[in-house]
Amino acid sequence: MQNFNFSLIFHTQSFIILFLMYVGVYFRRNRNRHVKIMLTSIVWDFILILQIELARKAIMKAADAALHPSLLLVHLFFAVGSVVLYIFMLRSGYQILKGNTDKRSFHKKMGFITLFFRTMTLFTSIYVIK
Ligand code: HEM
Repeated sequence: MQNFNFSLIFHTQSFIILFLMYVGVYFRRNRNRHVKIMLTSIVWDFILILQIELARKAIMKAADAALHPSLLLVHLFFAVGSVVLYIFMLRSGYQILKGNTDKRSFHKKMGFITLFFRTMTLFTSIYVIK
């Protein structure tokens, strides 16, 4: 029961974060709003990683990871990839804000790759942690 609550809390946050990111992309032309929404979702995602890490011992008991070891690897690939991509998004985002508009096309391409990775992280997490 306790583990069920953990996973529900994590999945709910993960879903809201991803939803926020899509909202942020929707507002990509509104610089002020885009930056606020993206920073909020990225910071929240880091806080979520921290929560999962802290509760990991409790979760692993109930995790289906042992039943789906390859899915766990796929999930970790997308999860770690998302975090690495966030660094590129933060860097290129700040460069655009500083006036380096050449970075826009890089930011845009990486932005869609980041969204894909983060979406896959959520989908694969559903099978890894139940
Ligand atoms: C996962 C995170 C993010 C995604 C998926 C994302 C995605 C995008 C996309 C698709 C655009 C439109 C690019 C274009 O059409 O040329 C854009 C623009 C922009 N982004 Fe991001 N972004 C993210 C995070 C950030 C962050 C963290 C910052 C700031 C620190 C930022 C700053 C900007 C700026 C300044 C623009 C140009 C807005 C304008 O004046 O039109 N982005 N972003």
